Amino acid sequence: MTAVVTGGGTGIGRAVSEALAGLRGPDGAGHPVAVVYSRSADDAAATVAAIRAAGGTAEAFRADVTDDEAVRGLMAAVRDRLGPVSVLVNNAGGTEHIPLDDLEAEDDEVFERLFRLNTLSAWHCARAAAADLRAADDGCVVNVGSASVSSGRGSSVPYVVSKAALSGLTRSLANALAPARVNEVWPGLVLTRWWAGKEEQGRALAANAIVGRETTVDDVAAAVVGLVTSRAITGQTITIDGGQTL
Ligand SMILES: NC(=O)c1ccc[n+]([C@@H]2O[C@H](COP(=O)([O-])OP(=O)(O)OC[C@H]3O[C@@H](n4cnc5c(N)ncnc54)[C@H](OP(=O)(O)O)[C@@H]3O)[C@@H](O)[C@H]2O)c1
Repeated sequence: MTAVVTGGGTGIGRAVSEALAGLRGPDGAGHPVAVVYSRSADDAAATVAAIRAAGGTAEAFRADVTDDEAVRGLMAAVRDRLGPVSVLVNNAGGTEHIPLDDLEAEDDEVFERLFRLNTLSAWHCARAAAADLRAADDGCVVNVGSASVSSGRGSSVPYVVSKAALSGLTRSLANALAPARVNEVWPGLVLTRWWAGKEEQGRALAANAIVGRETTVDDVAAAVVGLVTSRAITGQTITIDGGQTL
């Protein structure tokens, strides 16, 4: 099983890369991981180094996932270097922090940019890896969405809408890519660099979790591993937020 993790060198993506690299197959061998980055080369290199130090196999690949050509080149390079792709985690994403009621600031340009980054990128990656995923013993895609889709409260309206569209893509691809499975995780607030400069606000919001503790990147990675290893789950959403949105 070769896994591709977009945005795999930072935050949630790094935790997912390390968790998947540590998964052992029936023969005891680990799974190679392609750590995909677009700007954060040092973080990707550090993630690869950590995986190798733990005995795993990983390589960093640079690609802008909003660019279809680049993504097709990425998947070809991964196949060449690490073998056919059987797990794809579409984790790369981004936002604009705009107060929800500032309607004029949430213009078409922001909607289009975030749709391309948070939705179309996952489509590019799934399509470019589709042949490998379908041919794998248990091909699997996990999209990283957001719990903001259920509450409607997130960093901006275009962000929530782009992640809601990703949910539609998840269910549609579960049909289109079968027998490969396609699921999504919805993290609640997780204190990554996403919250840089707004840590206090993030901590206050995270305190709303009914389990009484913050949701961590490892909590999200554990759910991704569960979806990858449980062969009968497809087209589903798992919320990982300690009850922040319950
Ligand atoms: N933290 C939260 O509270 C939270 C909550 C719900 C959902 N999420 C979701 O979790 C995912 C990861 O976020 P995070 O919190 O871990 O923050 P993060 O560390 O900023 O992760 C975002 C990742 O996306 C990559 N990326 C962005 N644009 C890209 C592009 N055009 N091409 C390739 N890679 C690109 C970044 O890599 P480069 O720096 O190399 O570009 C980075 O590794 C996102 O999809 C986000 O929407 C986060």
